[in-house]
Amino acid sequence: MHSPYEVPGLTVSGAPLSDIDVDLIVIPIAEDAAATVAQRYDAPLGDELRSALERGEFRGKPNEIFAAHAPAGWRAARVVFVGGGNRADIDAERVRRMAISAAQVARHQKRARIAWADTELGAVPAAARLELVAEGFVLANFDNGVHKSRHDTAFFIREAVICTADDAAAALAAGRVMGESVNGARVLVNEPGNYLTPRVMADKSAAFASVPGVTVDILDQAQIEALNMGLLLGVARGSSEPPRLLVLKYEPRDARADRTLGLVGKGITFDTGGISIKPADGMERMKDDMAGGATVVAALRSIALQQLPVRAIAVVPMTENMPGGRATKPGDILTGASGLTVEVNNTDAEGRLILGDGLWYARQLGATHLIDVATLTGAVVVALGKITTGLFGTPQPWVDHIKSAADRAGEKVWAMPLYDEYREQLKSEIADMLNSPGRPAGAITAAMFLKEFAGTGPWAHLDIAGTAWAEDAKSWQPKGATGVMIRTVTEVARGWETIA
Ligand code: BES
Ligand code: MN
Ligand code: ZN
Repeated sequence: MHSPYEVPGLTVSGAPLSDIDVDLIVIPIAEDAAATVAQRYDAPLGDELRSALERGEFRGKPNEIFAAHAPAGWRAARVVFVGGGNRADIDAERVRRMAISAAQVARHQKRARIAWADTELGAVPAAARLELVAEGFVLANFDNGVHKSRHDTAFFIREAVICTADDAAAALAAGRVMGESVNGARVLVNEPGNYLTPRVMADKSAAFASVPGVTVDILDQAQIEALNMGLLLGVARGSSEPPRLLVLKYEPRDARADRTLGLVGKGITFDTGGISIKPADGMERMKDDMAGGATVVAALRSIALQQLPVRAIAVVPMTENMPGGRATKPGDILTGASGLTVEVNNTDAEGRLILGDGLWYARQLGATHLIDVATLTGAVVVALGKITTGLFGTPQPWVDHIKSAADRAGEKVWAMPLYDEYREQLKSEIADMLNSPGRPAGAITAAMFLKEFAGTGPWAHLDIAGTAWAEDAKSWQPKGATGVMIRTVTEVARGWETIA
């Protein structure tokens, strides 16, 4: 899977800015420190910035850009100041966005060699800041034009120098891994359904995650049948494309043996709704219904490449949800691998079905701490919009752990309740439960359904239906797949030793 989402030359330099041989140098500025920064540089750069500040042309608001000429004697041609807002408000996501926004300017100006003049930014620790900048520069290189017949890759960022006196090698390596993992997931999520069938998704995901220490297994239809995964098979019936079950394992020698992180991702390569078919308007978006699967593949890849001492498994059930002649019909009853029976009153609630078998299998493989990621419900979009990922789970300390990992990663998640009373809605007259429990609290009841398959250990569910896809391009984010939650899941693994 090749795409121009890497920055080939990512290096560190402790040399003075004037000696950095690039096309464009990025200087980050906090709004309430802008005047101080202006003093740091001699005329004419300092003067140019000062007068822009005085005229209000530039204030240092988040992602605001001010392009200036580099002073005579500098090897770089251009300087770009990028704002971050006030110091107290600068967090991980702000820094990442600053780096991406500035790098976008370089891309538009066709300046392929850029540098970042590192300086303190709010309370973000130096190592984290350098990692975020490296990650941001890699993210800025993402391009979704791979299916254009005249796809121009000539002017992407080829060299990025992080200017700091610190030892930044580890931060750069981690930032690169994170950026490339997110971009790789975005490539998969953006692929249309005719290109990315379950078989293709399995192969591409396997290739993407085939990094040192990771073993890959792709189960075909016969193997899925042998495991009695009636829920996954029930969804796959309507399609002429066979399902797949991808299993990734990362077992580092230095990991503690008493716990295994189990990641389960929804891999619906296209969701028509099945017999309960969706309206035509906007259905094309449903090619992204495998975003949760791509997320856990990318997260496991980044955990392995960072050599985190965490045993981890990823399980991704993959299928199309189609209304073929043999499709599951509303009212049909399916039996999952765990033995639970489900009355399928709506074939469009397919994600929870395949995840039910996926969660069960992750536990069979020894996962003790589960996280599933899925574009599961329209209801979570109603509740939290396209800004915040829905978090559900049990017990509370595990949910809290995920929330604080998301905070550290600069990703927005919000925990929703799973009170027992909601279970009432899942009741079926003729099977163990219903798959579509009606409109009230739709995101919660979907999570309650998953909980039935998650066993008694720690489990968390991230509903990314609102956050996996960006409707508009922003200076820090292209239109389309976002790659959300890869950083949060990776951060959970980084905080592995802090879990009680
Ligand atoms: N893939 C959809 C959820 C979705 C909706 C993702 C909008 C992104 C944007 C899921 O399979 C689905 O169709 N869910 C139904 C469930 C309902 C039938 C209980 C929904 O949310 O309407
Ligand atoms: Mn659906
Ligand atoms: Zn779906």
